[in-house]
Amino acid sequence: MAMPTDKLPQGDDKRQAVRSMFDTIAPRYDMVNRIMTFRMDVGWRRQAVSSLRLDPSSTVVDLACGTGDFCVSLDEGGHEAIGVDLSLGMLRSARCSSPLLQGDLLALPLADNSVDAAVCGYALRNLVELRPFFGELARVVRPGGRIALLDVSEPDNPVVRFGHSIYFNKVVPFIGGLLSDKNAYAYLPRSVSYLPAPAEMTRWLTEAGMVDVERRQLTGGLSQLLSATVSS
Ligand SMILES: C[S@@+](CC[C@H](N)C(=O)[O-])C[C@H]1O[C@@H](n2cnc3c(N)ncnc32)[C@H](O)[C@@H]1O
Repeated sequence: MAMPTDKLPQGDDKRQAVRSMFDTIAPRYDMVNRIMTFRMDVGWRRQAVSSLRLDPSSTVVDLACGTGDFCVSLDEGGHEAIGVDLSLGMLRSARCSSPLLQGDLLALPLADNSVDAAVCGYALRNLVELRPFFGELARVVRPGGRIALLDVSEPDNPVVRFGHSIYFNKVVPFIGGLLSDKNAYAYLPRSVSYLPAPAEMTRWLTEAGMVDVERRQLTGGLSQLLSATVSS
């Protein structure tokens, strides 16, 4: 199913459209990502990993791992990474040596309390629902384990917000259309409207059984990092 260009899909239509979109853009995903973010995405993932405060040789699941960027850096840090993603195209384009599973974040193919921590990069707005995902995080991460979730954000500063809005809404779809798939990169800025308000996401994390819930803006609000500890 191609990503619709008019109204945003919901429910199972959204799940299928998202999977098909990532299957399509997978081969050029990394290259386009690095160009669009001027490689800032690398630093944002690094900050997410450091917020996990991992012990040596921890087992960490990279949820919606895509092409495995988090898996690579976890592996380099001496940790055991496992990737899960819905899109076979993205998994086939992955460049990591970690075990990768095809699966849905709303029904994770992992046992209860089976990992020390979880990361998730830029997938929250692609999910059909967030609360069941937060429930899955609390189920698979052991008590006392950490989670770090990254997604796009809106800068607080009005001048930066204006510049960012031009870049994100006009430049990104244009460059994405030239280098990869026009519909997919037109969907990217529109998909931000799926993302709930920060206060709602932090409340849902608390309701799912997380403590020390924090939200941080990265690089002036170009990205946001939600982190928390699964209650013991
Ligand atoms: C923007 S990419 C991010 C990939 C990677 N985490 C990164 O930081 O580059 C979003 C990823 O979420 C995956 N995804 C979307 N919905 C999903 C779901 N319900 N379950 C698992 N993965 C999903 C997509 O297939 C895609 O690989």
